[in-house]
Amino acid sequence: MQKLKLTSSSVDETKTIARKIATLLKGGEILFFEGPIGAGKTVMVKEIVKTFGVKKTPVSASFSLLKKYKGKKFNLYHADLFRLEEGEMFNLGFEEMLEDQNAVLLVEWPEPAKNFFPSARLEITVTLLEGDKREITLKALGKKAQNLLEVLCKK
Ligand SMILES: Nc1ncnc2c1ncn2[C@@H]1O[C@H](COP(=O)(O)OP(=O)(O)OP(=O)(O)O)[C@@H](O)[C@H]1O
Ligand SMILES: [Mg+2]
Repeated sequence: MQKLKLTSSSVDETKTIARKIATLLKGGEILFFEGPIGAGKTVMVKEIVKTFGVKKTPVSASFSLLKKYKGKKFNLYHADLFRLEEGEMFNLGFEEMLEDQNAVLLVEWPEPAKNFFPSARLEITVTLLEGDKREITLKALGKKAQNLLEVLCKK
């Protein structure tokens, strides 16, 4: 499976979707979070990091591009590349992050990372519908992400 469209009617429903994704992560995955300001990208990142036993969870991180969290099974990195240019990706810690092969990378505003990061990933797009409603589209690039989607849609 390559694409799965879900809808959420509340923050709690978005968190539940994030937790379901988290339980399927084995380490080594890259997750891109796309969608407009205030869509709920950080809400999902926070919930995923929390699932791995991290107490100090992410905040909207426009002021810090990259944060590392030590999860129970592997490290998790939260990157927010809002307004970053592709040419500015160097020497900000991303090389080190990519060497951490067992880590899970959670990337908001991933546009500048598209050529810099490996292409196998799960792309999560959150769009705003009326009120608290959101559409959450999951797109799998590569076998590992495709398997994850297969299992997720049976949950
Ligand atoms: N169904 C929903 N899912 C997620 N968030 C929701 C939902 N309904 C309302 N919200 C609210 O929308 C906001 C989402 O904020 P969040 O910081 O996650 O957005 P973001 O996509 O990370 O934005 P930014 O691009 O600024 O980083 C929160 O204030 C949250 O309470
Ligand atoms: Mg955010």
